Amino acid sequence: MTSSFDSLWAELAPVGRDPGTGGYRRFAWTREDAALREWFAGAAAARGLDLTTDRAGNQWAWWGDPDADGPGVVVGSHLDSVPDGGAFDGPLGVISAFAALDALRAAGYSPARPLGVVNFGDEEGARFGIACAGSRLLTGALAPSLALALRDGSGVTMGEAMDRAGIDTAGVAGDRETLRRVGVFVELHIEQGIGLADLGRPVAVGSGIWPHGRWRFTLDGEANHAGTTRLADRHDPMLGLAAAIMCARELAGRNGVLATCGKVVVEPNGVNAIPSRVTGWLDARGADPRSVRAMVGEFAAALPTGSLAQESWTDATPFDSYLVSRLAALLEGAPELPTGAGHDAGILANAGVPAAMLFVRNPTGVSHSPAEHASRDDCLRGVAALTAVIRDLA
Ligand code: GLV
Ligand code: MN
Ligand code: MN
Repeated sequence: MTSSFDSLWAELAPVGRDPGTGGYRRFAWTREDAALREWFAGAAAARGLDLTTDRAGNQWAWWGDPDADGPGVVVGSHLDSVPDGGAFDGPLGVISAFAALDALRAAGYSPARPLGVVNFGDEEGARFGIACAGSRLLTGALAPSLALALRDGSGVTMGEAMDRAGIDTAGVAGDRETLRRVGVFVELHIEQGIGLADLGRPVAVGSGIWPHGRWRFTLDGEANHAGTTRLADRHDPMLGLAAAIMCARELAGRNGVLATCGKVVVEPNGVNAIPSRVTGWLDARGADPRSVRAMVGEFAAALPTGSLAQESWTDATPFDSYLVSRLAALLEGAPELPTGAGHDAGILANAGVPAAMLFVRNPTGVSHSPAEHASRDDCLRGVAALTAVIRDLA
């Protein structure tokens, strides 16, 4: 099968790739993000699609007029990444969306409903801490005043970063008008586990997203000299951090959930200084929200009072059951799989938009890592599946 997939993939591949690790550093409202947005606009223009940016900073490319003839069928995903992320998480969905449109056009298909491709901004929350910030802003799940005040690791607010990227921050708001254009949303994504590899199938339909959240905890100590402060005289918050991380792991096992401490900030971060303060982040998820909440409650109880603060929480999100069954039947009985990864499709589903996902096999299940991979053949099977889904829905 020839497909525009390869050329789209090749265009995007160098943007934000770290030559050292081979991983991607594509953070919201940076130079790399601007290059990704420019690429999206170019791909839309090359196809004669109408480009709009909504009040939350998400990009939409429309084939047809969603206001006159909508609501439309929307496909797409995000282009940003976690630190040293893989090439597939997000971009596979956007590239497959354009490739599916190309396949439909090449087949002479003309949709009865408008078709949209979306690039949701800041899905990973890698810079400002809140995942799916673009879709949460769009749907009203995240207040603009809160979002604009979020700070990155250098103290730059999201508002300042958006301003530098040329966004009129006074206009940042929930955007019902844009949301009304979306009759149904299907997000194709690389699978971030080994469900499909185990089943020996290339494509699955996402059935839902586990409840998940992020918490920040701060432990204070007393900065002092590494060579002159007796062990008994130290107030070393690093010890508290080590104990907290071990505790999170233990509690996760006991409650049957997942818990991760993947980010810490140490102040002042000097090799020969006892830290004055450490900040850690807990990511907790699981199939059962009560178990996740129980784990986090026990974790909070093990920390100094008041040191744990919730940064985000997303409830269990089942995708539209009619849509899931319809897509699974359409795709020759594709398996239906839940996921512990968060997605913009979940945010839209929680806002009442009929939404579903397609997952493409990841042979090792590794994700949020430069080792994330899907074979070209499976990617093209994903494009074919998405093309069939659009035909069916539009
Ligand atoms: C997004 O990839 C998340 O689940 O953290
Ligand atoms: Mn991700
Ligand atoms: Mn993703």
